[in-house]
Amino acid sequence: MLSERLTFYSQLTDLKLAELLEEGSKAPILTESMGYSVFSGGKRIRPSLCMAACELCGGTAEDALFAACSLELIHTYSLIHDDLPAMDNDDMRRGKPSNHKAFGEANAILAGDGLQALAFFALSLCTEKTVLEYVAKGAFEMVMGQSLDVNSGGDVSLLRQLQDYKTGALFRAAVSAGAACANATTDQIAALIRFADAYGLLFQITDDILDFEGESSVLGKTAGKDAEEGKTTFVTVYGLDTAKEYAKQYAHEAREAVYQANADAPFFTELISYTLTRKS
Ligand code: IPE
Ligand code: IPE
Ligand code: MG
Ligand code: MG
Ligand code: MG
Repeated sequence: MLSERLTFYSQLTDLKLAELLEEGSKAPILTESMGYSVFSGGKRIRPSLCMAACELCGGTAEDALFAACSLELIHTYSLIHDDLPAMDNDDMRRGKPSNHKAFGEANAILAGDGLQALAFFALSLCTEKTVLEYVAKGAFEMVMGQSLDVNSGGDVSLLRQLQDYKTGALFRAAVSAGAACANATTDQIAALIRFADAYGLLFQITDDILDFEGESSVLGKTAGKDAEEGKTTFVTVYGLDTAKEYAKQYAHEAREAVYQANADAPFFTELISYTLTRKS
């Protein structure tokens, strides 16, 4: 069920993203560099969650398509900038040279800028106006999280907030925007936001575990780079075993929250289980 739904949501997203990119830029290198990162094998979790939230609240996946695309565009821009030498200095992303390795730093910065602008263009095509508020809030919180991340200096008191902002924010935006596209009740939106709070932490902890365990080295990234760089993560702060316990706890909280939004939510419950044991 999960993989079929992810394929369905990804196909819808990819078609619309291709259209948006085609319209969005008439500068050849910008078009190429934006497309390079948008179509490089991302899992499309945020757009999928956006459309799944819309369906969970009585809408169709298509009702949330512009919102879903805007989230993937913002996510992709965040990763291009995250990999830059001035930030995480990662040469590889999803098993391919990162954007600045393929196109140079100036073009990578501009690809990120362009994708963010295109995201807000996509939002302008969305008929439900509260969506803009949810996505703009998520985009800004993600940047706040990245700022806390690069300036944290190992400050443990910042750990949860930092991870909640840098990663949780776009998941909150995804589910609240998707639900809003279905005219969901405020109770449903609140429950989905509680889901995203927990799911965001689960997702970032498992990302940090993959970094530590070297799973990401399969994709060309350096194992243990977070620790090497002095990053503040659940693994660097508490160690691997405790980080895994936290991941389970947040998975449990995410399941409870989604149940309150809708007791019949197999996509969400399967996504939580998949995320807990994910290998990429
Ligand atoms: C990576 O996110 C960045 C984090 C917030 C941990 P994803 O793991 O969703 O990235 P892709 O798009 O699937 O590569
Ligand atoms: C990235 O976190 C979060 C973003 C908002 C981009 P990471 O720096 O841990 O993500 P990866 O490991 O490079 O994908
Ligand atoms: Mg980072
Ligand atoms: Mg990084
Ligand atoms: Mg990481």
